[in-house]
Amino acid sequence: RDKISKKILVIGGDGIGPEVTRWGKRVLEAVAEKYGHEFVFDEGLMGHAAIEATGNPLPDDTLEKARKSDAILFGAIGHPKYDQDPSLKVRPEQGLLRIRKELGLYANLRPIKLFDELLSASSIKPEVLKGADILFFRELTGDVYFGEKKKADDGSWASDLMIYHAYEVERIARKAFEAARLRRKKLCSVDKANVLESSRLWRAVVQRVAADYPDVQCSHMFVDNAAMQLIRDPLQFDVILTANLFGDILTDEASQIAGSMGMLASASVGDGTGLYEPIHGSAPDIAGKGLANPLASILSAALMLQIGFQMQEEADAVLRAVEQVLKKGYRTVDIADKHTENSMIVGTDGMGQQII
Ligand code: NAI
Ligand code: MG
Repeated sequence: RDKISKKILVIGGDGIGPEVTRWGKRVLEAVAEKYGHEFVFDEGLMGHAAIEATGNPLPDDTLEKARKSDAILFGAIGHPKYDQDPSLKVRPEQGLLRIRKELGLYANLRPIKLFDELLSASSIKPEVLKGADILFFRELTGDVYFGEKKKADDGSWASDLMIYHAYEVERIARKAFEAARLRRKKLCSVDKANVLESSRLWRAVVQRVAADYPDVQCSHMFVDNAAMQLIRDPLQFDVILTANLFGDILTDEASQIAGSMGMLASASVGDGTGLYEPIHGSAPDIAGKGLANPLASILSAALMLQIGFQMQEEADAVLRAVEQVLKKGYRTVDIADKHTENSMIVGTDGMGQQII
């Protein structure tokens, strides 16, 4: 095959972000070497680290580099300082929300797949979990996160506007149906159409798009029921399509199907450069201790190879490496299994080195 050259922007961010992203990058370097590609890396600041250095959670320089790259590998943003003082005006998450908006990253893909080796590490019964394989499509640039925010000067009320435009629902619905077609051909759209007007619009648009995909079995579920069904019987789901807020909550819940937050990767895509990141945050409780599981970042790198660069073989090689390392018994503490005799507890770097 021809040598392929790609420009990758690495944004480690805050807390465990840089600790795990380092290993996502090292895995990409190993892939480039093994398959003869050329990956050129650059670095950018975002979040708390960027605020400290420049006063801006998304400096122009980072955004410019992002626009010029073929893909972005991102860690996480966030610092306890802002969680403790919600009144702080300049905040790390503004950087992440803005880069998603600026790059038009409207679809967030979150594969929830349980590695067999982690069956007994989950708090859910193995017989309920075995074979679980769900692909979430979470809408990422609309909903209550981007709607108009208001509050009374005297602090007596506050509001966030939950709003969807038909085109926003349609473009992600099409992506989700296309993906379902390549999988088990089942799509479940999750909303709250019994109560919310924006959800009624969501459902109507999904129904319209579904007509173009008669080979995909389309169903609709209310979000409260979906939250319950996910842990009652995760095997019933193939592709789940949902809004920004519902997807945020449901995918954290679904992380328990995959064993840990430290296992879940995501791809944020639109019509241009994609951004690949773990679903977890900066985890200040374990930051700086060398304990963070780097597999979510490494699996995000695999998604970059698969979705961003159409390098299926290379992506599969990374997945196989993860599988083999887990099979050998290597575990970070978040996926450690008290019942397995021969599991070896490693830190961030130990796990990363095994994968390489
Ligand atoms: P979190 O995802 O950072 O942590 C939740 C729990 O999962 C913690 O106990 C943490 O130790 C554990 N965990 C997360 N990733 C792990 C990993 N790779 N290995 C082992 N354990 C892991 O969520 P939390 O605590 O609610 O938020 C912390 C900060 O992160 C906040 O400032 C928040 O705003 C920010 N945040 C940023 C996100 C992003 O950058 N995409 C997403 C979610 C939160
Ligand atoms: Mg979240």
